[in-house]
Amino acid sequence: MPVGARATLFRAPVARSWHDPVVAEPHTPPNRRVILAGKTISAIVAHAPWAWPLIRRPVTRFFDSAAQGWDSRTGSASSERLAALASAVLEVDRSPERILDIGCGTGSATVFLAREFPRARIRGVDISPAMIHEARKKVGLDPEARIAFREGDASQLPFPDAGFDLVTQNNMPVFFSEISRVLRPGGYVVIASSLGRRTPFSTPESLIRRKLRRHGIVTTGTGGAGAGTWLVGRKEPQAR
Ligand SMILES: C[S@@+](CC[C@H](N)C(=O)[O-])C[C@H]1O[C@@H](n2cnc3c(N)ncnc32)[C@H](O)[C@@H]1O
Repeated sequence: MPVGARATLFRAPVARSWHDPVVAEPHTPPNRRVILAGKTISAIVAHAPWAWPLIRRPVTRFFDSAAQGWDSRTGSASSERLAALASAVLEVDRSPERILDIGCGTGSATVFLAREFPRARIRGVDISPAMIHEARKKVGLDPEARIAFREGDASQLPFPDAGFDLVTQNNMPVFFSEISRVLRPGGYVVIASSLGRRTPFSTPESLIRRKLRRHGIVTTGTGGAGAGTWLVGRKEPQAR
């Protein structure tokens, strides 16, 4: 794992609140049933995004019921879980001013990004109201409104076109057309999977590359960190 000047994850172990230091926590790895379900949902989203509305409700309910205790069960703020994302953002060559974290869950990765890019404004979006509730607790009162969380569906993001310099997602199905829509030309996308191919919500790299390309986004790097894998893409500057 390369340790760059910006890799705050490795200077201090993520936290309960966004200014506390990261603590590695023991966590429960996903079982085979969860991995299979997650991969099936990710495949549906990648191949047949029109079918997402049919499964949106049960997915939302699942994550609503999982929100409490998510951080301690999954170790969402641990350096192990954030390693792939941390490694990927080192590949983003310009400091982004506006960042969107899709499927932010309880906000651990969002908070990491806020530390990594201290001048950026960061938005976390998640379909689960209970997850957003947990995420907001991490930030508390942020007078500068640098980090904000809101409920929203990645298939219809509640943000304008070309509004972000960097779009990230950690352990989320990939909604290609919406990522491309909200990314400004020349902006970057980071797609990270904490457990590589054993991540329930993960999409094969070759498929991500192909689909991103169709949406005007070129893959600029891929790699692994810890058990995780990541891919970075850049929206072509002339793309609309
Ligand atoms: C496996 S969790 C990952 C959470 C967080 N990124 C992490 O790594 O800890 C997946 C998250 O994506 C959210 N999610 C699933 N489908 C979504 C969608 N269509 N739009 C927005 N969020 C979604 C879930 O509610 C859940 O919080």
